[in-house]
Amino acid sequence: MTIAVIPGDGIGPEVVDAALAVLPALGVDLDYDVFDWGAERWLASGVGIPDGGIARLAGGYRAVLFGAIGDPRIPDMAHGRAILLGLRTGLDLYVNHRPIVLPTGTIELYRENTQGLYAGVGGTLPEVAVDTCVYTRAAVERFVDYCLPRARRRVTLVHKANAVPNTGRLWQEVFRAAVERYPGLTATEEYADSFCYHLIRDPSRYEVVLTENLFGDIASDVGAALMGGLGLAASANLCPGSGFGLFEPVHGSAPDIAGKGIANPYGAMLSLAMLLAHLGYGAAAATLRRCLRTALDGPHRTPDLGGTATTAQFTAAVLRLLEQPMGER
Ligand code: NAD
Ligand code: IPM
Ligand code: MN
Repeated sequence: MTIAVIPGDGIGPEVVDAALAVLPALGVDLDYDVFDWGAERWLASGVGIPDGGIARLAGGYRAVLFGAIGDPRIPDMAHGRAILLGLRTGLDLYVNHRPIVLPTGTIELYRENTQGLYAGVGGTLPEVAVDTCVYTRAAVERFVDYCLPRARRRVTLVHKANAVPNTGRLWQEVFRAAVERYPGLTATEEYADSFCYHLIRDPSRYEVVLTENLFGDIASDVGAALMGGLGLAASANLCPGSGFGLFEPVHGSAPDIAGKGIANPYGAMLSLAMLLAHLGYGAAAATLRRCLRTALDGPHRTPDLGGTATTAQFTAAVLRLLEQPMGER
């Protein structure tokens, strides 16, 4: 099987290279094709996703490993919206799964990934700017229907219907109707502000969390902070209908550390583990997760975690663990 790889900008290529460096040690038969979509190409030619690019991905691959996008030379992030949001909508990757892995258990955070304030509805005049939050019932229903079966005991809807009543109410209606079909689940609803508060104070109260696009973006960075840093968080952008998935760390291109060789590749490697599990390589994914965890407990931490290791040194530590016989890992 062949996957697509889009390293992107800043530390994107650094962490993707690190993830690709451990791939051969995982014993999976996986090739990859690299796509140069990102700031350089945008600056040179004004092209984000080239003509036919979405069809090429959808027709030729089942998964993408993505780095990050964002470049100080493009301060309005026009290329980032064109490429990253273009991929999410173009491939209809409507589920954004961003697990928050904690000692108390993993919170499965699911973010709707195609609509809301990201629907692209709005405009600017000299004296007024408008961004409209749009949700269709069909989009909320398919998202909620995907997420609910993933909960065992508890599910939480995060919304802001007190202040943003129209889309908030739609989410509540769809959620309440859907949880009726899961009598074994304890379903709760929390305002987005209160959720962020409780997430930090007592994360053990959450198991599966569903939310709309922008709240999910914000909550996943809060969750990453709780995990120990943005360098640790991984994500999957999924189209359940087609089975296509795009896997990326939650962090961005980190221009403040790009080029220094000190980016933490953990989130990108964990994203690779999510990709492998998605493609059916469950054992390889589990091995990689275990070695990542062990490497994190070792002496080769990157500076974001208080260590002095470089990206290459952490990667080498993961590789050494992967190459050890099973029992010694
Ligand atoms: P960021 O996630 O890039 O960085 C935030 C902070 O976390 C920085 O101090 C950075 O150094 C640190 N950090 C992030 N990832 C790290 C890693 N792997 N190892 C060590 N430290 C890490 O967020 P930002 O600075 O707000 O955004 C930078 C650019 O990235 C912007 O252009 C933004 O739009 C873009 N962005 C892209 C994505 C994406 O591609 N999915 C996500 C978020 C932000
Ligand atoms: C993310 C990022 C993106 C988002 C930006 C870069 C468009 O913050 O993937 O979390 O807002 O979804
Ligand atoms: Mn974000």
